[in-house]
Amino acid sequence: MITDTLKISFQNEGIVTGLDIGTSKIAVVVGELNEMGGVQILGAGISPSQGLKQGVIVNLEEAIESIQKAVHEAQLTAGLKIKDVIVGISGDHVRSINSRGVVAVSRSDREIAQSDVDRVIEAARAIALPSDQEVMHVLPQEFVLDSRKGIHTPIGLSGVRLEAEVHIVTSAISASKNIIRCVNKAGLRVLGRILESLASSEGVLSNDEKELGVCLVDLGGGTTDMAMFFEGTVRHTAIISLGGQNVTNDIALGLRTPIEHAEVIKKKYGCANNKFVNADDYFLASGIGGREETEVSREMLCTIIQPRMEEIFSLIAKEMKRSSFGDKMGGGVVLTGGASLLKGTVELARDIFSMPIRIGIPQTFTGLVESVSSPEFATGVGLVSAGFDFFNEDLNKFHTIKSVIRSKLETLIQKYKEVFNL
Ligand SMILES: Nc1ncnc2c1ncn2[C@@H]1O[C@H](COP(=O)(O)OP(=O)(O)OP(=O)(O)O)[C@@H](O)[C@H]1O
Ligand SMILES: [Mg+2]
Repeated sequence: MITDTLKISFQNEGIVTGLDIGTSKIAVVVGELNEMGGVQILGAGISPSQGLKQGVIVNLEEAIESIQKAVHEAQLTAGLKIKDVIVGISGDHVRSINSRGVVAVSRSDREIAQSDVDRVIEAARAIALPSDQEVMHVLPQEFVLDSRKGIHTPIGLSGVRLEAEVHIVTSAISASKNIIRCVNKAGLRVLGRILESLASSEGVLSNDEKELGVCLVDLGGGTTDMAMFFEGTVRHTAIISLGGQNVTNDIALGLRTPIEHAEVIKKKYGCANNKFVNADDYFLASGIGGREETEVSREMLCTIIQPRMEEIFSLIAKEMKRSSFGDKMGGGVVLTGGASLLKGTVELARDIFSMPIRIGIPQTFTGLVESVSSPEFATGVGLVSAGFDFFNEDLNKFHTIKSVIRSKLETLIQKYKEVFNL
């Protein structure tokens, strides 16, 4: 599915590392496949991120250092050296569009082969792109065979005319290059890039939700990323250049307090919904440049936070309406990302979307799950899971080759022992 951006490498044999270069934090998650085919978390690392603005690298040296810190922590917990990673891509340079392609089925018996599917997807991907953008993902949604709609796997069916509907995600060439350069300079190879909202979806959504219709909303520090699913496939993706850092900035401005203090206040006393604050609850906010502390009510703090959170959710609701699948979100909205931890956020979202709302935490994994059981790790864990999904086939091939080599070696050793009577 997303394999077109994944270059397969087995430097870290059978192990996949996700590198989430977020605006607020860098998260690194290391995983391997367990016997059940699920993902076993081996280790994780997190470090505050420097040198990023709204999901995009603006200072290479600072970003490299932050990545190295998080990687170092993940290496210690996992007990291995990380060599290659799958990175998440986000930012306002990312664009997405639904497209359609059509081809005539080539075989004389009209049975659809893999080559027909490849050709029709190639036809759908042929869109006019600005010269500074490149295609990151081409995600098949469904196929139409001689006007029969809703086909997911057309191979083997018979028909004359094959159409494909796909979701195309593009990104700025320069932004991707900067990420790859930065990761390389941090001593790592990039195996592939995945849109962050798709990675987060892998981390926290169930297949049932994706089937029924669900909207993932990743409330990050610099951006809020959304991905809508229906009947198991991606229908719409969008990125809004607002996130938790805007809430913090609003608090700093509103209370005339330093940013670092505003961040602490937000986490400790903040609430996104005035129904849940008590008018008699007060806290102390330190002033800028040594000015005196002032007493502030939590109700007043909420009047700063709530409008920003409403703005973010309203922009997401607008995006949902823009998609023709907006009224098909039977599974509701799943909130994830660090800013979803803000008190009252679920209730505010419920009021705005009028849909079932839940917080998405990576849970359906084994191993060191407690180290990643926070919405902040949704993207990191999802990158690992997506990595396995998308080159699972190649991994299987790798393991088969490995076991063939091992059995041949064992035979040779056996013969050697027999010859030399060992
Ligand atoms: N307990 C909490 N209460 C309120 N907000 C919180 C809490 N914990 C984290 N946040 C906020 O979450 C945001 C960071 O979220 P996250 O780690 O998902 O962002 P990121 O992935 O680094 O950024 P982005 O995805 O936008 O590039 C920050 O604005 C932070 O203030
Ligand atoms: Mg993020």
